[in-house]
Amino acid sequence: MAGAPSPRMREVMEALVRHLHAFAREVKLTEAEYDLGIATLNRIGQATHDSHNEGILFADILGFSTLCCLLNNGNAGATETAAALLGPFWRMHSPRTENGGSILRSPTPGPALFVNCRVLDPTGAPIEGVEMDIWHASPVGYYENQDPQQADMNLRGKFLTDAQGRFSFRSVKPAGYPVPTDGPAGDVLRAQNRHPYRPAHVHFLGYREGFKTLVTQVFVDDDERLDSDAVFGVTEHLVGDYRLHESGTPPAPDVTAPWYTLDYTFVMEPGEAKLPTPPIK
Ligand code: BEZ
Ligand code: FE
Repeated sequence: MAGAPSPRMREVMEALVRHLHAFAREVKLTEAEYDLGIATLNRIGQATHDSHNEGILFADILGFSTLCCLLNNGNAGATETAAALLGPFWRMHSPRTENGGSILRSPTPGPALFVNCRVLDPTGAPIEGVEMDIWHASPVGYYENQDPQQADMNLRGKFLTDAQGRFSFRSVKPAGYPVPTDGPAGDVLRAQNRHPYRPAHVHFLGYREGFKTLVTQVFVDDDERLDSDAVFGVTEHLVGDYRLHESGTPPAPDVTAPWYTLDYTFVMEPGEAKLPTPPIK
């Protein structure tokens, strides 16, 4: 490593090689296992394209994405954090939508969901002008890019917080879903006898100059798999109060009971505003 001009590169590569060698020694890696490992790495690359990111998915099912998230937020794990893994389904350029607007871009059967959120700084002051990007799976558990029945950008939208730090939108209640299992990540889940499901959730990505970009998810509290997320993303802090309404005056004239509401408050820390690399186009 001595010739590498970047000290950080030297530090990271030196540790990677040391741990990789220690790993091979510890498990006494056989030549057949070495071949399988290389073939798996190659298949991860081959399975990745514009609408699927097997690399991120593989890191997710190993708990590696969540570990990196917790190391880089919440004071390196010392304090509660609002952050969670990005996952492989964020798309840049989701449609800008008026506050209170719907993110249904094609008919999507399912119970209506009305989301009202606030974004505050650590002192409790509202943050105006946060671009909040939303994406979630349908009530049958598919993101629009996985499902020919849904219009492009269905269940995706971008909102701007107002002077009180508020944004709101209308959607349908998402369902839990299996992560894609037709590649190496699926092979590992099957070999470990693990289920591939994620509990239902809505993704949020908050961006504003002067604040650390907030990437997170808010989980549906009645999901039976909160304790066994295939990608280890659930924390108590991120379980939302998705409130069921079976009677009363609906929030919109075309809504019939039952419908759900979610009220949630996000806190963004001062820091660098930086968008992640989109996992898919
Ligand atoms: C997601 O929440 O979109 C996701 C995260 C990790 C793996 C697959 C999907
Ligand atoms: Fe998701």
